[in-house]
Amino acid sequence: MPVYSEGVMEHFINPRNVGEIENPDGIGEVGNPICGDMMTFYIKVKDNRLDDIKFKTFGCGAAIAVSSMVSEMAKGKALDEAMEITPKLVAGALGGLPTQKFHCSNLGAQALHKAIENYRAKHNEGKENSRVIK
Ligand code: FES
Repeated sequence: MPVYSEGVMEHFINPRNVGEIENPDGIGEVGNPICGDMMTFYIKVKDNRLDDIKFKTFGCGAAIAVSSMVSEMAKGKALDEAMEITPKLVAGALGGLPTQKFHCSNLGAQALHKAIENYRAKHNEGKENSRVIK
């Protein structure tokens, strides 16, 4: 069994920002086909910043800790800053992950980035539509 850092254990036992946002501005869902773990991030955006973030993770302890840490790292950040959150930064903030669990940290950053891309796609779509209406 992998040995986890205190940071991983703490976020696994007391995960922050668990849940779902009603009418989110963006949703990012990712899964790992090998282990079968799934992660969904929901975001609310205000003034180009992440005003609120929630997540639902069906996965291992490391995946839950990673989701929790990503949500804390990203909350309040500008969208461009949040896009710079990498799996390596997340693993570092948790005090490291065992090598065989490092792939779990990929899911967190990917789900966050997908939610932001989903928001941006909708946002740009809206702008194009408004141009068409004019
Ligand atoms: S074992 Fe699959 S995300 Fe951790």
